[in-house]
Amino acid sequence: MPKIASATIDEVNNRTDIVALVNEYTRLDRRGSDWWGCCPFHNEKTPSFHVLPDRKMYHCFGCGEGGGVIKFLMEMEKISFTEAVISLAKKNGVEVIYEGSNYQEPEKNNTKDLYIELYTRVSGTYHFFLTQSELGSFAKSYIVKRGISEEIIEKFELGYAPSDKYWLKKFLKEKKYSDEFLKESGLFSNNYPDISFFIDRLTFPIANRKGQVIGFGGRLLRGDGPKYLNSRESEIYRKRENLYAFHLAKQHIRQKKAIILCEGYMDVIAYHQAGIQNAVALLGTALTEEQVKLIQPFIETIFLSLDSDNAGVQATLKSIIVCRKADITVKVISFKEGKDPADILLNNGVEALTRCVDSAIIDVDYLLSFLAKEYNTDTPEGKTKAALSFFPYVEALKSDIQKETSLEKLCQTFSLKPEAVKKDFNNRGLYKSSIQNDKQSKTQQVPVKKEKIKPNVELRAIIAVIANIDCFPKIRTKINAEDFEDAMARDMFIALEDCYREGAVSFESVMSKCSSDGIHQFVAEYITNGEFSINTEKTIEDIIVLLKRNSLERKRDRLTNQIRQFTVVTLEDQKQLESMISEKMNIDFELLQKKDANG
Ligand code: GTP
Ligand code: MN
Repeated sequence: MPKIASATIDEVNNRTDIVALVNEYTRLDRRGSDWWGCCPFHNEKTPSFHVLPDRKMYHCFGCGEGGGVIKFLMEMEKISFTEAVISLAKKNGVEVIYEGSNYQEPEKNNTKDLYIELYTRVSGTYHFFLTQSELGSFAKSYIVKRGISEEIIEKFELGYAPSDKYWLKKFLKEKKYSDEFLKESGLFSNNYPDISFFIDRLTFPIANRKGQVIGFGGRLLRGDGPKYLNSRESEIYRKRENLYAFHLAKQHIRQKKAIILCEGYMDVIAYHQAGIQNAVALLGTALTEEQVKLIQPFIETIFLSLDSDNAGVQATLKSIIVCRKADITVKVISFKEGKDPADILLNNGVEALTRCVDSAIIDVDYLLSFLAKEYNTDTPEGKTKAALSFFPYVEALKSDIQKETSLEKLCQTFSLKPEAVKKDFNNRGLYKSSIQNDKQSKTQQVPVKKEKIKPNVELRAIIAVIANIDCFPKIRTKINAEDFEDAMARDMFIALEDCYREGAVSFESVMSKCSSDGIHQFVAEYITNGEFSINTEKTIEDIIVLLKRNSLERKRDRLTNQIRQFTVVTLEDQKQLESMISEKMNIDFELLQKKDANG
């Protein structure tokens, strides 16, 4: 995909209201010309998140996050630079132009959008039936009896699909939808395209990560039939790639760095009702790698809150492996036999449910007690089976220390000799059971440790220029990239030059061209602390003079060295030496002048 033009990045930056954008994630309060709030990137009670509307920058004094509007959205949504620019452009009516210009943005998949629009509309209608219509009062009293509040009904946009099986078709035809379009929508019976798929059911809209409705779950309330019906997969709805309520839970997942994974819609709703808002649910599949990719950027720990029946246990075992392969810490929440979160909340209250979460046990302990129940570990055969079933878990662990520790735990639990266990573990290929396919995931993520950048005079100079970007046209006549010794500062200067030539010099467009790790934060931190807001012109001029002098001195020292070590053999050499000496004299002279000018 070609690069987005700097002019577009600038335009997006100019048009985006950073206070409004940040306000979507955390509440900001005005103090003077700036805004402050609790940091949306980490959990805190007192505001240390600072937003400067004029500069369109933010910085957190607590966790050190910082940047401009594009960086903010990238970090918040864990999306790429391009995705963030496109998203902000869309929001602010900016046309996205690509470099090399004859590139056409890929044709929007219009049917996809139309189906999303259809589902959104139908969800609203079902919701209306549940909350406003006599037809849905039965379903409404059911959900209220299960202890669910109006607020949660609104938040989850719960609904009711009417018992008139022709109603939806009639309604949508009136809205001018075509038969062919509706036939493929998944909202109608496969064989009878006039009959609704969901009839007389409580409906749970399923949304994608953006919060757009892409499917439904429907619970039976009376009569016969499966307890739950779920939308079929479609172009917009892929079970493997989505999680129920992820869009509602995301903010809380991010702040707690943890997610609670449930099995059913009602479980998620119960958690949220109890104020535990980082809960999501699977969509009828075991946890997939795609789902792990979706949540991984936001979390360190996953709490598995699956049913205690056989299917639930199997799902728990599988999920542990999938998560450990992605280096996510796993804890298991368990409930009394046959109970689920919704039951606990209704029968025992909020504290009881909270206690269940707090007493979640680490996966290794869960596994070992599972194996102790599963096999007769008093016999050597039982012990061997338990150990073999445990090995895939050890294998999934990312670090050798973890592997080692969990093997030790296995030994302690079943009184095994460590040497024997280690030997068996290393030879496990020989009697590999069918328990686990152990394709090692190649997409293992190595967390990049952020090195703190140390400010030096060059970095400070270039940041001062970026903070006062209007002065750049003047600056660039006095100094060039070679004058910088610091690679990062040089990078930024080149980015400034490029942007200047493209006619789009702004913080965002410049930073978009800087690739050094952590540079965004660093610059944001420096600019937001206001150091460069006073006496700017004078400060910058002084710094530039200093830089130029340093650069000249370095050059002179280099030349001096070269001249000293130079041996003249040929006439050519003689000429070269003379030219070096004259160059050095020029520099000496220039430096002398600068000293005079500075007094
Ligand atoms: P409640 O009985 O309303 O509390 O539901 P629950 O959340 O306890 O559901 P349960 O544990 O019975 O099922 C968990 C999940 O499995 C549901 O949310 C559905 O997604 C799915 N499920 C349950 N029953 C059926 C069914 O009959 N058919 C299908 N396709 N899916 C089901
Ligand atoms: Mn239940």
